[in-house]
Amino acid sequence: MFIFVLLFLLSCVYYVYFRRMRKPLYELSESLPNTGCLPIIGHTHWFLGGPEKVLKNIQQLASLVEDSGGISKVWIGPSLYIVSLNPDDVQKILENCLQKDSSYRFLQNWLGNGLFVAPVDLWKAHRRVLLSVFHNKIIDEYVDVFGEQGEVLVERLKEQINKPEFDVYKYITSCMLDIVFETAMGEKMDVQHNPDTPYLRARNAVMSIIGMRLFKAWMQPDVLFNLTPYSKQQKENIDLTHKFTDEVVRKKRMLHEKNGPEKNLGRRDLLQLLLDRETKFTDEELRDQVDSITIAGNDTTALVISYALLLLGCHQEEQEKVYAEVKGIFGDSSRHPTKADLNKMDHLERVIKETMRFYTVVPIIGRQTQKELKLSTCTVPAGVGCAVLPFAMHRSKRIWGPDADSFNPDRFLPEASAKRHPCSYIPFSYGARNCIGRHFGMIVMKSVLANVLRNYKITSSSCGRLKIEILLFPVSGHMITIEKR
Ligand code: HEM
Repeated sequence: MFIFVLLFLLSCVYYVYFRRMRKPLYELSESLPNTGCLPIIGHTHWFLGGPEKVLKNIQQLASLVEDSGGISKVWIGPSLYIVSLNPDDVQKILENCLQKDSSYRFLQNWLGNGLFVAPVDLWKAHRRVLLSVFHNKIIDEYVDVFGEQGEVLVERLKEQINKPEFDVYKYITSCMLDIVFETAMGEKMDVQHNPDTPYLRARNAVMSIIGMRLFKAWMQPDVLFNLTPYSKQQKENIDLTHKFTDEVVRKKRMLHEKNGPEKNLGRRDLLQLLLDRETKFTDEELRDQVDSITIAGNDTTALVISYALLLLGCHQEEQEKVYAEVKGIFGDSSRHPTKADLNKMDHLERVIKETMRFYTVVPIIGRQTQKELKLSTCTVPAGVGCAVLPFAMHRSKRIWGPDADSFNPDRFLPEASAKRHPCSYIPFSYGARNCIGRHFGMIVMKSVLANVLRNYKITSSSCGRLKIEILLFPVSGHMITIEKR
């Protein structure tokens, strides 16, 4: 009995201490509008249910935040997040908070200290080196790979000509995997012809377990997750993917040590370039960087390309404009797009930008304050999560006007873009920790889309319902039909 009384008293003391330590958080929370927060569990219930339900809840939450002035709070259990849809506040968050939020820890077993999840100190040192290998001039040398793989894609799509609706994403994602593997690590995987390998199965399994865990509150604590069969499955699949990249890194390092930096041998993959840099990475660090690049670069670009096809299939007049532009550049030639060709595709670029606004594939960005941060209506203490919701900002009527829900690439004409706040449009995030692959992404998407659109006329009805699984996916796939031009 005495033990229970003692435990109860200790718990009360701890609770009082806990509340006192977190007083600044409660004061901040009190000062912000209440957007459906319940006692104790806060907003945790908004993040329960399937990926479609969770997305709907987040959309609803975003409109409550918008209605209450563009800034509010979300409590997930004991963790407070500040949510802002105001471009000024978002700019401050993305410029000042370079630390990723604690939910990115689910990726850490897989991506280690790769750029995507690295703690700030390590990230600063590594980002500087990676920026030098992601230089536009280096990336521009990969246009031949983009063109070659785009041609394979066009060939593979032939099996769908004049057939019923099909999901184009699986074709695009195989093409993007081939491109990303060849440019990041020099591996010709030929996924377009062999889409079912143990490595790819393992990679997909890890992605779906992490995606599921992110929005299942009860699976978030490691102690509970480790009790589920998913924990073992995740470990086995991560080991398999690591084994693959470790082997590539080992081979590349051996070659590098044998031949030394081969300055004039033409196009080199990103891994070779990293091996040449003065900053010496360990094999494990190289694996983390390469895995981060291939993961961050594949599904994002594949999704945007697939959404663009879907939207062009629904908006024939926009498709005809892109076709006229591409036809004007290539005529009847089937040559691969060069960098000069890609520079001329202004309308296609606007279509891609509008696609990334309309369907923002990275819907949420989570950061953490490292020191006190003054926002428009409140001051956030250090160590608090900040959630930026690009997908909600990209559909905000306050920013985009009453027709925010219609597809209009001309929003990205230079004069219209110049009038907008720099943080009103952030598909690649913003600030020093923005997407390092945005130039790569933009030119690869242009090249692949130009190849598909000069060969096929696309039709589709609508995208339908959406869901969130780390990225934004349509529930029923990217369904289109194609006919030969
Ligand atoms: C349409 C294509 C893409 C989109 C929409 C996109 C979007 C983003 C966003 C929003 C972030 C910040 C995420 C966060 O802070 O949570 C990010 C980071 C990153 N992206 Fe991309 N990305 C794309 C393509 C690529 C490509 C092609 C690559 C590489 C080949 C790449 C590599 C990375 C890496 C390594 C990071 C982490 C950067 C850092 O923390 O310093 N991305 N991307």
